[in-house]
Amino acid sequence: MLEADYDGCLAAAAGAALEWLDGLDRRPVGPAVDAAGMLAAVAGPLPERGDGAVVVVRELAALAPPGLMATGSGRFHGWVIGGALPVAIAADWLVSAWDQNSAMAEPFPATTMIEQVAGDWVLELLDLPRSASVGFVTGGQAANTVCLAAARNGVLAAHGWDVERDGLQGAPRVHVVAGAERHDTIDVALRALGLGGRTARVAAADGAGRMEPRALEAILARLEGPVIVCAQAGNVNGGGVDPLDELADAVDARGRADTWLHVDGAFGLWGRAAPRRRALLAGAERAHSWATDAHKWLNTPYDCGMAICADAGAHRRAMGVRAAYLPEGGDAALRDPVDVTPELSRRARGVPVWAAIRHLGREGVAELVERCCAMADRYAARLGAAPGAEVLGRCLNQVVVRFRDPAGRDDDAHTRRVLAQVQRGGECFPSGTVWRGAAGIRISVCNWRTDAADVDRGVAAMLAAHRAGAAVSPG
Ligand SMILES: Cc1ncc(COP(=O)(O)O)c(C=O)c1O
Repeated sequence: MLEADYDGCLAAAAGAALEWLDGLDRRPVGPAVDAAGMLAAVAGPLPERGDGAVVVVRELAALAPPGLMATGSGRFHGWVIGGALPVAIAADWLVSAWDQNSAMAEPFPATTMIEQVAGDWVLELLDLPRSASVGFVTGGQAANTVCLAAARNGVLAAHGWDVERDGLQGAPRVHVVAGAERHDTIDVALRALGLGGRTARVAAADGAGRMEPRALEAILARLEGPVIVCAQAGNVNGGGVDPLDELADAVDARGRADTWLHVDGAFGLWGRAAPRRRALLAGAERAHSWATDAHKWLNTPYDCGMAICADAGAHRRAMGVRAAYLPEGGDAALRDPVDVTPELSRRARGVPVWAAIRHLGREGVAELVERCCAMADRYAARLGAAPGAEVLGRCLNQVVVRFRDPAGRDDDAHTRRVLAQVQRGGECFPSGTVWRGAAGIRISVCNWRTDAADVDRGVAAMLAAHRAGAAVSPG
């Protein structure tokens, strides 16, 4: 008989978690070992006999740290990975302890109704239609996929085609238009939905990665039949936001029920929660669907995204499940998450969203977003003023910077050397990219902890690597 040692296990886990979190400021930001080194450290035969639960928790807590990235550090700026708020981490632990299958409201009322309120709060914070449906999914990829499934349903239903019942074979052709700088998850979603990852008509983007409204208009003018337009609020590199009002005008001008505007706002949509950034995202409320993440800018732990649809019916038709062995969804006001997410069994990942918003309040969310933008401004200003550094992209919480090779040979190679040295040095951790044909270093400020001292340390580390790279630069 196994021992019910909740005390021992949770105390060991809490101790190890606190040791990790308390050490974030002292340890290098990047992991000390690479994946091959980590595999060598953890590889082992399938145990024939188990060990005590507390022993295992302690073993895990000792094994992992050398290979952990300090994503919770104020100086972690890779990809767009938010830090996790203490209140959201604690709520996430409770979600595990409660272990509710948060798909159906009737048997699991606590977590599903907390999620329902969290979804309503998100609609209010982002000022999206209050009647929209919200599905808490694993992240931006899943959110884009769910929203585009609803879009596919909506635009085909306008042509009298039931895609859930009859599939795509023989259906009217669905045209997809996406910006040249869309996130790759849009292509993956289109692929999964049978719309073809590479068949989207590409609307040109400007120097900040924003879809050109005139390019969209020109494409729409040539298309007959159902159309899905994929816009973006927050380019993964420089943070650029599509001119959403103008794109919505172009979609409205088509004047047909079979044109759907989707906004991928994985992180950028949160700009709407900060009064000073709102104007940049004006018009987002006019879209038909929105994908966003809480695990990025709301600083909940992984994994937590949201698929939001103005047409709740299309959302439900695309995702809903009914089976004889499942409870019937009764009261329409008590929504079943199973109807708006692709999972049947699911974690209550919206509960940490409730906790984060309950803790921060409207003002705190605005302050979090605003402060990240201000810290990104500080990075851009300090790096932009340094000799040999050039800011290539800057919007919301994102900065893309490039360093010129003092020997005048190869700026791309020099920039990559600077990045590698900064990452190895451990003082801060940006990630790399190619932005409009040039190698760049992306700095994403997406953590409630990042303050001016963190930025100044990050800037110093990058400039030191630039100067050191200059010193060893060939020629
Ligand atoms: C604009 C955009 N869309 C989608 C995604 C994918 O989100 P996720 O990693 O949560 O699936 C990202 C990730 O950075 C993103 O920036």
